[in-house]
Amino acid sequence: MPGIGTLKSFLVHLLSEFPTAMTYTSSTVLVPDVSAVPRHIAIIMDGNGRWATQRRLPRVAGHTRGVDAVRATVEACARAGVEYLTLFAFSSENWRRPEDEVSFLMRLFVTALEREIGKLHANGIRLRVVGDLGAFDRRIQDLIRRAETKTARNTRLTLTIAANYGGRWDIMQATRKLVEESARTGRPVEVSEEAFSEHLAMAYAPEPDLFIRTGGEQRISNFLLWQLAYTEFYFTDTFWPDFDANSLSHAIASYGGRERRFGRTSAQLEPQSQNADSLSC
Ligand code: FPP
Repeated sequence: MPGIGTLKSFLVHLLSEFPTAMTYTSSTVLVPDVSAVPRHIAIIMDGNGRWATQRRLPRVAGHTRGVDAVRATVEACARAGVEYLTLFAFSSENWRRPEDEVSFLMRLFVTALEREIGKLHANGIRLRVVGDLGAFDRRIQDLIRRAETKTARNTRLTLTIAANYGGRWDIMQATRKLVEESARTGRPVEVSEEAFSEHLAMAYAPEPDLFIRTGGEQRISNFLLWQLAYTEFYFTDTFWPDFDANSLSHAIASYGGRERRFGRTSAQLEPQSQNADSLSC
């Protein structure tokens, strides 16, 4: 007879193997549960270059300091009880940057991953990397795979790094997989939100509750196009290297004050008893 511990680790394993079936709720199909602390935060870490330029430093110095802000944000999210944190580290369009900046970012990613993975693991954080990883050199791909495997059983917080990621790429690759699946099984393509979103790169996570963009720009830059349908947006002028636990709590406080209606009216959100009162008046 297996003990509780064995059963628990079996269930954790099952969840990590078949996460989509267990966690997927589309905000346009079902109204999701909402809590004061966002379950999933997605961030565009913008303003590294300007942070450095303001200090007469090379742009890449801003990226280096950006890694410190990543560490502070991961720690703050774990402490706040956020379950998923997704960071846009390199977009499919960032290849258009000067070659030396691109290779600096690649090296920085490798160094940060090598240096931080032990600490992430020790703190119960699961690491996942999403994007078109085939474009990275084999050493980076192996490093990512090892880091993901090492942390696969961790459940405190899932940290996703979007690297060579683009929302349109994601939609296209999910569509391709749907079509391939149909060709393989001989069944017609199932055109439904559920069938489609199971193939998205982040099918293991609920849709983001809160989207943060630092650096003063107000756009989503081809980030999680499908998943941001009902996400609350928070824009701040703070440059990413200056973003810290305090900045995060401001963003979470702003989120806490939002009314998430998902298409309903304010009156429908009132507690049942108040609704009944107002109907009887
Ligand atoms: C945007 O600022 C930032 C990036 C394209 C890179 C972000 C990467 C990091 C913070 C390092 C991440 C490392 C890990 C391990 C996740 P920008 O250069 O566009 O700034 P600007 O708008 O001021 O020019």
